[in-house]
Amino acid sequence: MHILQALNWRYAVRKFSDVVLTEQQVDELLEATRLSASSYGLQPYRILVVKSKALRRQLLTYSHGQGKVLHSSHLLIIASKTSADKAFIRQHVQRVALARAVHNRDLADMSAFLQRSFVDVSDQQFTQFAEQQAYVALGNLLTSAASMQIDTCVITGIDVPGFDGLLGLAEKDLTTTVICPIGLRHWDDCRARADKTRVSFSEMIVRL
Ligand SMILES: Cc1cc2nc3c(=O)[nH]c(=O)nc-3n(C[C@H](O)[C@H](O)[C@H](O)COP(=O)(O)O)c2cc1C
Repeated sequence: MHILQALNWRYAVRKFSDVVLTEQQVDELLEATRLSASSYGLQPYRILVVKSKALRRQLLTYSHGQGKVLHSSHLLIIASKTSADKAFIRQHVQRVALARAVHNRDLADMSAFLQRSFVDVSDQQFTQFAEQQAYVALGNLLTSAASMQIDTCVITGIDVPGFDGLLGLAEKDLTTTVICPIGLRHWDDCRARADKTRVSFSEMIVRL
């Protein structure tokens, strides 16, 4: 599917069908999301995949009645890291060293810079940075899903402490940033027929 066709095809689904996506579809979408760009390549977030209806029924109580949390194929949760320590930077430098086939010691300057920028800052500053990176992954997730004709609905209207508590995220230095049910649209989802509301091209694009 051409990219503009895919982006015009997608919309924020209000009502999903009962169809369950194959593991292959879900894994391909997750792999596309894993390949997202991020600042310094740090990817300070994790993607939780919830298929269990029992767990989603519990999460629904923290979702302001948005039934698609339960009634969709899978629920994806992008959770951002809330702090960075030396080990986090060390692991990243190790990955870079392996990918570029260089020795860790040749990356000492980079390591010191990352430490200053991300370890020696407040948790609040780091979380803000991490959530920005999570949103880049979200955009990639939405576009990738559209190109695969998988439906999505981004949701931020949730009780974040409720999600974090139920999922035990604080213990893992994570917090829920955004959730996204995925699946296939229901044939009678009224939103499927609604026109897109978008700022016009001439208003959006400023050529200097
Ligand atoms: C960051 C973000 C948060 C959103 N939160 C919700 C939400 O809590 N519930 C919901 O039904 N839709 C939510 N949406 C969907 C938007 O309402 C929808 O994307 C927007 O109206 C544009 O319509 P379209 O995606 O159907 O083209 C959210 C979208 C984004 C990008």
